[in-house]
Amino acid sequence: MGDALLSTHAYSKSESLEYGELKMSNTIAIVDSRNGKQADLPIVSGALGDPAIDIAKLNKELGLFTYDPGFVSTCSTKSAITFIDGDQGVLLYRGYPIDQLAQHSSFLEVAYLLIHGDLPGPAQKTEFEHHVTHHTMIHEGLKLFMNGFHYNAHPMAMMVGIAGSLAAFYHDSLDPEDPQHRMITAIRLIAKMPTLAAACYKHSVGQPYVYPKNNLDYCSRFLDMMFGVPAEPYEVNPIAAKALDLLFILHADHEQNASTSTVRLVGSTGANPIACIASGIAALWGPAHGGANEAVLKMLNEIGDKSNVARAVERAKDKNDNFRLMGFGHRVYKNFDPRAKIIREMCHKVLNELGIHDPLLDVAMALEEVALKDDYFVERKLYPNVDFYSGIIYKALKIPVEMFTVMFAIARTAGWIAHWLEQNAAGDVKIGRPRQIYVGPKSRDYVPLGQR
Ligand code: SDX
Repeated sequence: MGDALLSTHAYSKSESLEYGELKMSNTIAIVDSRNGKQADLPIVSGALGDPAIDIAKLNKELGLFTYDPGFVSTCSTKSAITFIDGDQGVLLYRGYPIDQLAQHSSFLEVAYLLIHGDLPGPAQKTEFEHHVTHHTMIHEGLKLFMNGFHYNAHPMAMMVGIAGSLAAFYHDSLDPEDPQHRMITAIRLIAKMPTLAAACYKHSVGQPYVYPKNNLDYCSRFLDMMFGVPAEPYEVNPIAAKALDLLFILHADHEQNASTSTVRLVGSTGANPIACIASGIAALWGPAHGGANEAVLKMLNEIGDKSNVARAVERAKDKNDNFRLMGFGHRVYKNFDPRAKIIREMCHKVLNELGIHDPLLDVAMALEEVALKDDYFVERKLYPNVDFYSGIIYKALKIPVEMFTVMFAIARTAGWIAHWLEQNAAGDVKIGRPRQIYVGPKSRDYVPLGQR
């Protein structure tokens, strides 16, 4: 499908979308007790959530930096895409509550919403789905690249490499300054991630790649590429496709999480959008972030039985043991992760519909019950997060555990690209360049070798 047919009217909206401006409500006086100097800094607020101190002038006026490893209390940007209220367990995509989107929407409709700022009308939905469907194929040269990986390469290792290499095939449309380039790349990434993911899986099991079929919907096409074989027709289970679509909706975006912040930081250098998404995939891989879903299933298998749950909880509390309850805790949610609630209910529904009884679900439920009554977890407000139950559903869909974070990356590509578009459409992209507190040696003279 030639890109010349990519109609621009459907995409011009995100270019002209009015982003909420920050409102200055008041000032806060910062007084340096060492010399009595004072800086009056603006307090700025957005549409929802806590206001913030605009510290842009702090260093100039008081010669001070702020220090906040892990950015616990730091806003890196303003955004109109996703809102999270960690205390109330609220998650909104462009103002729409996640539970309503989970119930009524589809992943591609949510991808459109995240990118364009509003739900698509019928014509826009059809056009967006048409474009995604007709950009799912990958260059044949990529198969040669794939074949270079060792058969037991971790799929995330392959995804980081193979996704980044897409830039080598589209060097004529990667200019972040060009709205058409921005949009065609957004479509290509959303369209091709499932194809790349399925190819990584096929490579790992030594089976031939299955080409994307345009007559299937987004998730059915992915399952067909994952589990179809040339030897016989493959019938996609609609229950599995629906469950996958719902998981993709729930994983599509999540404000300034580590991988999205990485995409924005890389994007602030003017790097091409494909390189930015590849950096997001790499950041997502960590077990503290998107790698947690794979780690949860390994943990549940290690626990093995409900009788071992109490011991696991004790280990998680023991500071001398680096064992953590994977899938528990969250930087923002100090209440139940609303996505975890939806996925927990989905677990029962999907396993029942597929006629599967997975003892790991019993272990997970028992772990949740014990932990949520334990003071250590209650005091620290540690609740199950999005990763705690998702792996049980992926396992029921026969997706191998090494592919779990790849599934997360497919879904999060919609959020990553929406944030990249928002940052670039705003036009005033400043390169991200945090400072530090230097704790190394003071200036000293070189010591000749003979005197060391
Ligand atoms: C995702 O940011 C996002 O939005 C991410 C995400 C998204 O959609 O993009 O939601 C997806 O990454 C979900 C999180 C997946 N990660 C895990 O499930 C890994 C296990 N969880 C933790 O490693 C931890 O809870 C984090 C990384 C999620 C959050 O870490 P924080 O906010 O830095 O909290 P912390 O490490 O400072 O913990 C606070 C306290 C500590 O104890 P004390 O020092 O106060 O005694 O809680 C303890 C921690 O030791 N703690 C845990 C724990 N998580 C935190 N103790 C046991 N088990 C855990 N899982």
